[in-house]
Amino acid sequence: MHRLTEPAIQDSSKTLQIGNYQLQSRYLLAPLAGYTLFPFRMAIRELGGIGLATTDLIPARAIFTKSKKAQKILKTSPEDHALFVQIYSAKTEDMVTAAKWLEKKGYAGIDINMGCPMGKVNSRGGGAKLMCNVDGSVSMVAQIAEAVDIPVTVKMRLGWDRKSISAPTLAKEFEKVGIAAVIVHGRTRSQGFTGEVNLDGIRETVEAVENMPVIGNGDIKTVEDAFRVRRETGCAAISIGRGALMDPWIFQKIERACAGETEIPEPTPEEIIDFLIRHFSLMVDQYDEYSCILFRKFAGWYGAKLGIPEDLEDKLRRCENIDEFYQIIDQIRDRHGERESAIPTAMIRVPNGPVERW
Ligand SMILES: Cc1cc2nc3c(=O)[nH]c(=O)nc-3n(C[C@H](O)[C@H](O)[C@H](O)COP(=O)(O)O)c2cc1C
Repeated sequence: MHRLTEPAIQDSSKTLQIGNYQLQSRYLLAPLAGYTLFPFRMAIRELGGIGLATTDLIPARAIFTKSKKAQKILKTSPEDHALFVQIYSAKTEDMVTAAKWLEKKGYAGIDINMGCPMGKVNSRGGGAKLMCNVDGSVSMVAQIAEAVDIPVTVKMRLGWDRKSISAPTLAKEFEKVGIAAVIVHGRTRSQGFTGEVNLDGIRETVEAVENMPVIGNGDIKTVEDAFRVRRETGCAAISIGRGALMDPWIFQKIERACAGETEIPEPTPEEIIDFLIRHFSLMVDQYDEYSCILFRKFAGWYGAKLGIPEDLEDKLRRCENIDEFYQIIDQIRDRHGERESAIPTAMIRVPNGPVERW
């Protein structure tokens, strides 16, 4: 049982307007490349409480040249709604072409990546690098927003480094050119994933805009974190990435807290196993036998959450075919709770070492 230690935010309206969309929740799933693909999104959406999800970042060109990898990331269904597609490039022309293509295909919205810290994205001028050139970025964003009728959002960091905090200025300008919302990860690019999230930076971005929703992001791992960040920054909504992988029930818990519950039950082992099976079967629908490989990065989390012994978790990590996978599940049903530690042995990898070399 989870006892709430921070009062829930009571919004006058539960919904959040982003462009022409009325999102049913102010708590959104952040993109985590390689994790928040269609199978995970669907499994977690079914638990309830998610207002919006976004795809992994995709190079704009890969969208309209229909690269195989991009097609896989673009997989969706009517139930996977609302879904924004995240694109990146330093070339405005490619971004505009990709945005138009996505609108024609019926995607709900476009999210522009201005936060990715990786060298291969930044060295070509994309991702967080765009934050260094305010005029250029505003011009790019304006042309994309002008080219489509679906909402366009921007996901960014606070700036390149602590000497160049550009999020408030950019957000202000983006609002003027028709951007529907900005999502702000409260770190700079040079921080990578280290150090504390700077809530003052998010608050300054909120204060810089007139009406456009600012969505706070970074290190929100519990229901209480979500409410605290909203209180301290005044942001209209929250985007949760790693916290949602560590606890896929987080959105459901937030929804229950907002509905007035103060004691929120944790999922039972049976519910976690059902979630695991749902997640895996959705993977199988899309990736067939390859799902066993894709599932490996989740094995540590399920292993810890279900308290399965190391030998069984190891089997989950080495499994190569679907039948074997379901045999392992039968063993998990019998043997969960044998291990004490709830700390995952391997979970979400973030790049490490000096950010300049990422
Ligand atoms: C493994 C991994 C993959 C990520 N992929 C993306 C991505 O494709 N697009 C993006 O905008 N942010 C991406 N991010 C950043 C997250 O969306 C988020 O901004 C960051 O992790 C901080 O929020 P969190 O603490 O809630 O995860 C990624 C982060 C991680 C750890």
